[in-house]
Amino acid sequence: MKIGIDKIAFHVPNYYLDMTDLALARGVDPNKFHIGLGQDQMAMLPFTQDIITLGACAAEKILTDEDKNKIDMVIVGTESSNDFSKSAAVIIHHLLNIQPYARSFEIKQACYSGTVALQQARDYIAAHPDRKVLVIAADIAKYGLNSGGEPTQGCGAVAMLVSSQPKILALNNDSVFYSEDVYDFWRPSGHDYPLVDGHLSNEIYIDSFLKVWEENKKVNKKNSQDYAALTFHLPYTKMGRKALRGLYPTISEEEAKRLEQKYDEAITYSRRVGNLYTGSLYLGLISLLENSSLTAGDQVGLFSYGSGSVSEFFSAEVMPGFENHLVKKEHSALLDKRTQLSIPEYEEMFSKKIPTDGKQYLFDDKSHFAIRGIDHDIRIYNN
Ligand code: CAA
Repeated sequence: MKIGIDKIAFHVPNYYLDMTDLALARGVDPNKFHIGLGQDQMAMLPFTQDIITLGACAAEKILTDEDKNKIDMVIVGTESSNDFSKSAAVIIHHLLNIQPYARSFEIKQACYSGTVALQQARDYIAAHPDRKVLVIAADIAKYGLNSGGEPTQGCGAVAMLVSSQPKILALNNDSVFYSEDVYDFWRPSGHDYPLVDGHLSNEIYIDSFLKVWEENKKVNKKNSQDYAALTFHLPYTKMGRKALRGLYPTISEEEAKRLEQKYDEAITYSRRVGNLYTGSLYLGLISLLENSSLTAGDQVGLFSYGSGSVSEFFSAEVMPGFENHLVKKEHSALLDKRTQLSIPEYEEMFSKKIPTDGKQYLFDDKSHFAIRGIDHDIRIYNN
């Protein structure tokens, strides 16, 4: 039985900042951001939207009423939760009107949690092949104005419907993992932004990739030729490229060229969005599926990395006719119709927060699932 991604879509908010504007405002050569980090634009979120808004909007693009009646689990992977107790999944389950006898929960391990959610979904469907699982990977990457991580911010969500008749990708059940207790990026309670040792995080990312790659070779007896493409967690698009280049001493020049071309096709969307933390790998996967020439039976390798750190390498097989089940036009329209922010607009949007004084407020964001108000610290969403 094949189990995997039946449908997949992403959502990003309606605003972005151009990286040239950010570079000039911070007194940096724009090439550092465009070439050095590989980022052209950065998605920005108004305070009236959050991971629930993003996740619900992404899922709504792909779910039919029939799907909603078959979903047994809603899993949200995130490190940008609004609440230490109540999960975003319960609210998304409600906003999407999914059948009530479902399990809804949220999971965390930095940017790795979307992958855990996907693999848990796979395991559940193995035991319940006639049911479906909704997986959402949603995050808001914020490091602070004028911080070292500022050019690597972003936000968005990816929604995936997992079933036993996957129309897009079948998961191969070949994961290899690696855990290492390290402080490269973490956000202790009480901190609005993460604490990050940026250069250490780059090193651990690359080292973790090379470790799971070697483990995959050992356990699954696979080499680079077995994959039509390799996709990576993309905190900024140069990061995965640096890890990919770690393989070059062991592969031919021709093979390196082939993989790098696929890599370029997989980062098209991320260059315009920035970091989605746990959704980043899957935004890259969507970009590859929608902008590359894959054929049925092709194998795609996926490297998932969550600081702290946990990594996983696994693979998926491209399904026949997958291209007919993508929502490429909606994705292109979503990216193209966004409003560009000036630096003062960005800084104002960045700094505005939902009030936490328990009083009642009404807001004026009419967009789908946006927060229309707050009362006694309960966010009220448009639906
Ligand atoms: N033209 C072209 N390239 C230039 C340039 C110019 N004028 N100026 C600098 N560059 C290049 C540098 O050579 C460098 O390239 P390499 O990495 O290939 O050597 C690149 O631009 C970045 O330069 P620096 O290393 O000097 O940049 P920095 O000190 O500002 O730090 C950063 C960059 C560490 C990524 C920082 O933005 C940061 O801390 N970001 C947040 C942490 C992060 O994203 N870590 C990634 C791994 S952890 C992870 O993956 C989990 C997660 O999602 C957070």
